[in-house]
Amino acid sequence: MYKFDEINYYEDDLNIKNILKEINLQEIDESLNICDLTNIVNKHDIWQKNLPRIHPHYAVKCNDNPYIVKTLAELGTSFDCASKNEIKQVLDFGVNPEHIIFANPCKPLSHIEFAKEKNVQTGTVDNEFEIYKLYKHYPESKLVVRFRCEAKNAQCPLGNKFGCDAENDATALMLLAKSLDLNVCGTSFHVGSGCNEFAAYNRAIMTAKNIFNFGEMLGFNMNLLDIGGGFPGSDDTKFLTISNIINVALDRYFSSQKIKVIAEPGRFYVAAAYTLICKIHAKREVRNAGKLDTKMYYINDGVYGSFNCILYDHHEVTATHMLNDSEGGLPTFKTLLWGPTCDALDKISDNLYLPNLNCGDLLAFPNMGAYTVPIASPFNGFMTPKTLYFMKKKPT
Ligand SMILES: Cc1ncc(COP(=O)(O)O)c(C=O)c1O
Repeated sequence: MYKFDEINYYEDDLNIKNILKEINLQEIDESLNICDLTNIVNKHDIWQKNLPRIHPHYAVKCNDNPYIVKTLAELGTSFDCASKNEIKQVLDFGVNPEHIIFANPCKPLSHIEFAKEKNVQTGTVDNEFEIYKLYKHYPESKLVVRFRCEAKNAQCPLGNKFGCDAENDATALMLLAKSLDLNVCGTSFHVGSGCNEFAAYNRAIMTAKNIFNFGEMLGFNMNLLDIGGGFPGSDDTKFLTISNIINVALDRYFSSQKIKVIAEPGRFYVAAAYTLICKIHAKREVRNAGKLDTKMYYINDGVYGSFNCILYDHHEVTATHMLNDSEGGLPTFKTLLWGPTCDALDKISDNLYLPNLNCGDLLAFPNMGAYTVPIASPFNGFMTPKTLYFMKKKPT
């Protein structure tokens, strides 16, 4: 039987249909995550093969589950933390503070004090108030100036909230840091999460070079380029295209190997590792002038739970019907999926075509590992999913 509080091992491939048959979900009324930690190991391989010069700092905010953080720490990635608690969590796994970047440009004071106490020295800044704050409370820290360079098309743009103007503000911030005798060591950007305009990386790396030049002119030891996140979670072909653009840009603008290049990937590592299994518990058919228009199903997870990613991350839902091997070729119907709460905002998708389904049927939702788990709430008394963790057995 599978266990919830430890890793379950599989031999060749993770077969979700077989797992579900064995755990008899028909008797359980809560949604369930199946997390394949080997998927994360494979992602790390892909990263190392395609971006060998770039040291990944996993963005903990994306999914702070301890199994994920531990797996990545054991693989040797570093970490992007946004808060005191994220720093603490990562340090508790034995990660060296030098392998953490405090990549929140607007940090509460107690979090800065914690970083100082734990010797997490490197952090991003994008405004003068943060620089004054660091001058007062952590003058020995290493500043990474984050500038704004957004993709024209991204799932979640970040530029309205973070990143200074690269031409005017970045230079002014570095001059201020110099006048306060602070230590600027590099620059960073984030093209937007789920970047869909890959040339943005080239533009940003080119801009970073200008900022490096200015910093060096001021006498700073500029040795850190942080290219942020934005990498796709479930499309490795896109990832290869992005890698190619980044490698060419680095060769062109940052050929010196003395410069350490890091990134802050989040969804790249974890999105595809999770498949969410939900059960239909209620059904309605909507008719228009007596004719069937839509089949509506109510399932045991929704936008207040795992599907918060629809609201916050603009996630596009895909679903497969589980446990029915013989339905290929069956007619499909316009399908609307509702979450379990009594709120009409709790709509998962009205854009799916699925075969006729019934109460008790299971649906599988792939790519549910990014920006889902840490945000889910048990609103209306509907519990967030439990997770079963799997890993491929190592050959003996
Ligand atoms: C500062 C920072 N770094 C990294 C990430 C991770 O981005 P992604 O999941 O697109 O790789 C985010 C996401 O919001 C972020 O805010």
